[in-house]
Amino acid sequence: MKTKSYPPLFDLSEEELRQKAEELSSLMQKRRSCRFFSDQAVSKSIIQKLLEIANSAPSGANKQPWTFCAISDPAKKERIRIAAEKEEKAFYEERASKDWLKDLESLGTSWQKPFLNTAPWLIIMFKQSYGVDEEQGKTKHYYVNESVGIAAGFLISAIHQLGLTTLTHTPSPMGFLSEILERPKNEKPFLLLPVGYPAQDATVPDITKKGLEEIVKWH
Ligand SMILES: Cc1cc2nc3c(=O)[nH]c(=O)nc-3n(C[C@H](O)[C@H](O)[C@H](O)COP(=O)(O)O)c2cc1C
Repeated sequence: MKTKSYPPLFDLSEEELRQKAEELSSLMQKRRSCRFFSDQAVSKSIIQKLLEIANSAPSGANKQPWTFCAISDPAKKERIRIAAEKEEKAFYEERASKDWLKDLESLGTSWQKPFLNTAPWLIIMFKQSYGVDEEQGKTKHYYVNESVGIAAGFLISAIHQLGLTTLTHTPSPMGFLSEILERPKNEKPFLLLPVGYPAQDATVPDITKKGLEEIVKWH
């Protein structure tokens, strides 16, 4: 095994650490899922940087079991919107359970997804159930869902820290994305993330988060 040194990134006093933590917490708590996008452009080089960040995430045995499709082509976005709305219409009108629809009520969502056209970029994350190597053939991937979920977290956090916005979107089911984007059999759609600026008049549901006392047990 080859190693290299890994010194601490910062040398902060307790006070500096507290202040940094406070600033980061305040910034991250401003993140919201946005469903109203501006058509303001975001350059490809910025999207590339965001994907570098996502790709730096930890993954089971460092297999990086993910593929990102970044789409700015309006015709392809339109195809995705049409296919997504078809699935979502069936979901809202037929497939969704009463409980699920009730839980969605406070978010005001519907089968209509205009942001799939408006947002300048759609990033589709695919999870690779196994790898395909030219010489070895099928190779094993480990903790695929956990790994891809963590990479998605890195990506969502980076998008927010740049002042851009996104929505964690899962049109149900998502098989149409494999077809439109011509992905191989070992890849399954994981998340669809529209990326851009929020519309000037964007609003978000006025929801609250559980407090730490409910979700943390100190030992
Ligand atoms: C795995 C996952 C799937 C989601 N799928 C959708 C979706 O398909 N459509 C949607 O409008 N929101 C979707 N959301 C967004 C959630 O509704 C949102 O994160 C939640 O209401 C909390 O709001 P916040 O992200 O603004 O904190 C999804 C979130 C997650 C984590």
